[in-house]
Amino acid sequence: MLTEQDLIDRGLKATIVRHPLVQHKLTLMRMKEQPTSAFRALLREISWLLCFEVTRDQPLENRSIETPVQAMDAPMLKGRKLAFISILRAGNGMLDGMLDVIPSARVGHVGLYRDPETLQAVEYYYKVPNNMEDRLIVVVDPMLATGNSAISAIHRLKQGGARDIRFVCLISAPEGVEAFNKAHPDVPVVTAAVDEKLNDHGYIVPGLGDAGDRIFGTK
Ligand code: URA
Repeated sequence: MLTEQDLIDRGLKATIVRHPLVQHKLTLMRMKEQPTSAFRALLREISWLLCFEVTRDQPLENRSIETPVQAMDAPMLKGRKLAFISILRAGNGMLDGMLDVIPSARVGHVGLYRDPETLQAVEYYYKVPNNMEDRLIVVVDPMLATGNSAISAIHRLKQGGARDIRFVCLISAPEGVEAFNKAHPDVPVVTAAVDEKLNDHGYIVPGLGDAGDRIFGTK
């Protein structure tokens, strides 16, 4: 696994969430014997912690409230509800955890497949909340491998008006971070780990296998 210093040495930009609970749960998720139900539960729990990280700088404004004891000005989140955007299908595995933490968030989905001839990402589904330009947009997908899906999804979201975008994943490949940084230098990447490399099949090494299959119990 790469450290923050490795990222700096390679000119890559990503926040690695080093919280011990994130790292412990990620190791459990990597284990190949982990059953689907446990994998899904762990992804949900890690998503809570990644959600705290990606929203740590969100602005607050004071509201006048009354406690049972007295009136006070107390901080609440400012502005429009943020939106989580899931890149289908594995992104859906992170949505439940994110929504546990911010139940009032809006949710969108972007579906892309890779054309086997042109190798370009082709959109087959796009449904997002309105007023994208006024919201914090948190895009979720567990694996940043080549980066192609995330890069295309975020291009599409920008066309749809999104401006304040962040990308959250579980495991990244250095190749994916590099491509993503180049395509979207304005979009911060939050990840639990940056692994060694991509293999010839586009899998992250050591990674955790196919995240979609492990979340949904498919093969
Ligand atoms: N997508 C996955 O689910 N796993 C990888 O290792 C790479 C892409």
